[in-house]
Amino acid sequence: MERLFTNKLDLETPCLILDVDIVEQNLRRMQTFAEAKGKKLRPHAKTHKCTALAKKQIEYGAIGVCAAKVSEAEKLANAGVSGILLTGPFVTAGQIHKIVEIRSTCPSFVVAVDHPAVVQKLSDALRQQNIALDVLLDIDVGLERTGVTPSNALSMAEEILSYKNLRLRGIQAYAGHLQHIASYQERKKASYSCFEKVIPLFTKLKKETEGCTIFSASGTGTFAIDSGIPEITEFQVGSYVCMDAEYLAIESTERDGESQFKPALRLLTTVVSANQKGFVTVDAGLKSLYRDGAVPQIITPAFAGMTYDWFGDEYGKIICGENIQAPSLGTVIELVVSHCDPTINLFDRFYLTRGDEVVDQWNVDLRGCSQ
Ligand SMILES: Cc1ncc(COP(=O)(O)O)c(C=O)c1O
Repeated sequence: MERLFTNKLDLETPCLILDVDIVEQNLRRMQTFAEAKGKKLRPHAKTHKCTALAKKQIEYGAIGVCAAKVSEAEKLANAGVSGILLTGPFVTAGQIHKIVEIRSTCPSFVVAVDHPAVVQKLSDALRQQNIALDVLLDIDVGLERTGVTPSNALSMAEEILSYKNLRLRGIQAYAGHLQHIASYQERKKASYSCFEKVIPLFTKLKKETEGCTIFSASGTGTFAIDSGIPEITEFQVGSYVCMDAEYLAIESTERDGESQFKPALRLLTTVVSANQKGFVTVDAGLKSLYRDGAVPQIITPAFAGMTYDWFGDEYGKIICGENIQAPSLGTVIELVVSHCDPTINLFDRFYLTRGDEVVDQWNVDLRGCSQ
C-alpha cells in the first residue's frame, strides 16, 4: 500500500503536483471572463486527461468538456460526464460503433465531422439504433490538420443536412497554429483573419437551419482575442487550467505582458547526483518531462536563476554556473513543465497540494486513451 504523505517535498519523484488554489483561481478566472463576454466554456479534457478535473470544470460552470479521441469521450461518458464534444476525427467501424454507444447513454454528445464518407457511415450506424446525433462541421481555418476547407464547407454542410439522423448544430474552427504566436497584436490579427473566412457561412447556416447555433473555437492563446468575435459561442480552451512554460512565454493581453493564468501544474524532481562542477543531475528526463516548446522553468525560489536541461531518458541536468552554490544531493526542485498535455500523459496521477501540504490525489484516468 502506498504511504500517505503530508508534505509535497516527501513525495517520491519525479511526480506531478497540482496546486489546488491556483487550479481554482484559473477555473474561476476563465469562467468569469467567458460569462462576462457572453460565451460558454467547453474546456478541452485532452490537456489534463482527468475525469475529476473535467467534473470540476463543469462544477465551475462549463457546459461540458471536449475530448480529442473516441476512447477519451467513452471514458468520460462512462464516468457520467455530459456535454462531451468530440473535436477529433474518427474513421473506423469500431470508432463509429463506440460513438453510437456513447450517444445511446449520453444524449448531449456532439461530434465534429469533416468528410462525406464518415458522415454516411455514421448515419448508417445510427439508423440501426434508431437514434440521431448532434454534429458540428469541422472547418480548417489554417492549421491544415483536420476539417474541410472554407471553400468546401457549404457543400459539406449540405451533405450533413441530407441525413435525417444527423443534426447540424454548428461549426468547429480551431486555429491551433496561432495559439503560441508570441506577440498579442500579431496573434490578434491572425485570429481575426482566420475567422473572417467562416463567419459568413456560420451566419447563413444559423439563419437557415433550426438548432444550428454553436460556433466552437479558441485555445488558451486566443480566447481573449476571440471573445471580441460575436459569432463565436463557446471556447474549447485546454491549457489554461494547468499552464506550462510554452504558454507562460507568450504575451497575454494588450495591456501588459503578465500571464493571466498561473502555473498550477508542477513537476517535482530530486537531485540524485552532485559530483560535477556547474551542474547537478536530477531524476526527471525524457520519460517524465516531455520535450516540446519552451524550456521548463525552475520555480523553487532558491534555485530560480538555474536552468533545466534534458539529460537522457531518466535524468535531467540543473545547470547552476561555476560560482553558484549547487543544490545538494536529495534536494527536491519544482519545475513548470515545457508542454502540459504530453507531460501529463506520462503520469498516472496528480498529487493535489495546498501550500506545501498534499491534500488529495486525482488519477490521470484518461491516460493511454489515444485511440
Ligand atoms: C481541437 C483543439 N481544441 C482546443 C485545444 C486547446 O488548446 P489550448 O491547450 O491551447 O488551450 C486543442 C489543443 O491542442 C485542440 O487540439
